[in-house]
Amino acid sequence: MRKRNKIALIGAGQIGGTLALLCGLRNLGDVVLFDIMDGTAKGKALDLSHLSPVFSLDFNVSGTGDIKDIKDADVCIVTSGVPRKPGMSRDDLVKTNADVIRSVAKGIKENAPNSFVVVITNPLDAMAYLMQKETGFPKEKVVGMAGVLDTARYQAFLADAIGVSVDCVNAFVLGGHGDDMVPVRSYTTVQGIPVTEFLSDEKLDEIEKRVRGAGAEVVNLLKTGSAFYSPAASAIDMVESYLFNQRKIRPCAVYCNGEYGVKGIYLGVPVMISGKGVEKIIEIPLSSAEKDALAASAGRVQELISIL
Ligand code: APR
Repeated sequence: MRKRNKIALIGAGQIGGTLALLCGLRNLGDVVLFDIMDGTAKGKALDLSHLSPVFSLDFNVSGTGDIKDIKDADVCIVTSGVPRKPGMSRDDLVKTNADVIRSVAKGIKENAPNSFVVVITNPLDAMAYLMQKETGFPKEKVVGMAGVLDTARYQAFLADAIGVSVDCVNAFVLGGHGDDMVPVRSYTTVQGIPVTEFLSDEKLDEIEKRVRGAGAEVVNLLKTGSAFYSPAASAIDMVESYLFNQRKIRPCAVYCNGEYGVKGIYLGVPVMISGKGVEKIIEIPLSSAEKDALAASAGRVQELISIL
């Protein structure tokens, strides 16, 4: 008998709770919310279980403080750690969150050894790298969520500036999930038409600057915590491509082994996600300015990884 998908959410905070809700609404399978604050995990799960009858959802959700309950999960989405506060960069979280990742990696390795792991905890590229290293999982089974979110922010700002549906805007943001991420203007189109036909270079510079700072813009408005709706939705998009073998091409933080001149670290590049996980990295020609920007971003991620 084919078993139901089991999705383990490691961290039941703002993003974890939103992930659980989206898993239910999109019928992805059963959800286990795990958190060291087990009351948070159990309380959110209980609340969510009362949503199923309202929408007639086929959705079992439970909360736990015992990592053994993630046993044999098909997917683990990791948000455990601390979010940044106003004035902090994502990189300021590195030491605190590295300890959290080490501890949850052990639990994932022992209890869900065949799972596809999506890391959301910041600083993203370094934490995804650490997760793969600590679990020892195949590199195609550990991936970081950042490019989908950064690209969505770019698409939203472009659609707003041009006055078109977000559906028409196709874009890529590559590189690390930091202030030096690389919006790739040369591959950004509006229904196939180069974005430069719609907006001046000055306007595009302004939008790309806003994309780089969009996470901080949210943090400064919220005052406590960081973005959670859009990061959760972005991870769900990646998980759906894995669970349903959709073969979507998305920018994700993955282990690079020479692609784009980057070796031995995790960095945001275009990949295809299939039922195997990261099926392949798609290499596209970049302008020399884009290549330089990607190399600078990779250098920053490398520095963070060397702190670990
Ligand atoms: N094991 C399990 N859960 C943990 C652990 C741990 N070792 N350490 C912390 N947690 C839990 C916290 O108890 C909290 O419920 O992780 C959860 C984090 O939730 P929030 O503080 O609400 O943070 P959130 O907004 O969900 O962001 C989580 O994602 O985008 C990144 O920068 C963000 O690193 C942060 C992460």
